[in-house]
Amino acid sequence: MRKKIVAGNWKMNKQMEEGLKLTFAIKEANKNLPEELEVVLAPPFIHLYAMEELLKNQPNFFLGAQNCHEEENGAYTGEVSAGMLASIGVDYVIIGHSERRKYCHETDAAVANKLQRAIDNDLNPILCVGEHLEIRNENKHFQYVQQQIENTLFSFTADQMQDLVIAYEPVWAIGTGHNATPDQAEEMHQHIRQTLQDHYSKSFANNLTIIYGGSCKPSNASDLFQQPDIDGGLIGGASLSADDFSAIIQSF
Ligand code: PGA
Repeated sequence: MRKKIVAGNWKMNKQMEEGLKLTFAIKEANKNLPEELEVVLAPPFIHLYAMEELLKNQPNFFLGAQNCHEEENGAYTGEVSAGMLASIGVDYVIIGHSERRKYCHETDAAVANKLQRAIDNDLNPILCVGEHLEIRNENKHFQYVQQQIENTLFSFTADQMQDLVIAYEPVWAIGTGHNATPDQAEEMHQHIRQTLQDHYSKSFANNLTIIYGGSCKPSNASDLFQQPDIDGGLIGGASLSADDFSAIIQSF
């Protein structure tokens, strides 16, 4: 069975104490989760070390970073490497989020380099893809997302991509309150799975966890997660509230 993932992307929110309180509240509200369900918390970098302590021995809980640098180390002031993340027990790293593509001008080539760093350091990458509204309006969204996948993934082997997770996040749905409908999300998830099946294999595609992100909240999570190709969610705004995030976790 494919693993299910609900990941909270806190973005640039929560002071340290607030972050630790939120972590504790989420942990307390989500005991005895099914084995195949993973909850990933992706706070700002500086929270990771302290949160690792709090989440120790919590079988369903994993730590994620929101980014890593594309080089292993060196003179890159202000940056954090995949190796550093791995050294403090981080499990997942979000790569290629649309906000980083937009504000930090991350290209597909940089995203591919970051994937390489994640693989080198045994971090599970959560690769974000998704189209802008104009592209959907021109009916080119399938082609666009497929191209993002080809540009970033296809230089890797299936073996290297064993721990990959893909997050489909239509840019027009992120932080807007307007989620993709379950049908819109499902057809893109199917398309992504088919693209990977064509390039790698059917078993690779069938085992790949593909999660949806973009205004996912307690009121729509269950309809989204019931779709056959939607294996969970990457949650922004709603992951900042223990009640909302827990309701989403419990929507399966
Ligand atoms: P949102 O963000 O849930 O606030 O729309 C999702 C994301 O950016 O990962």
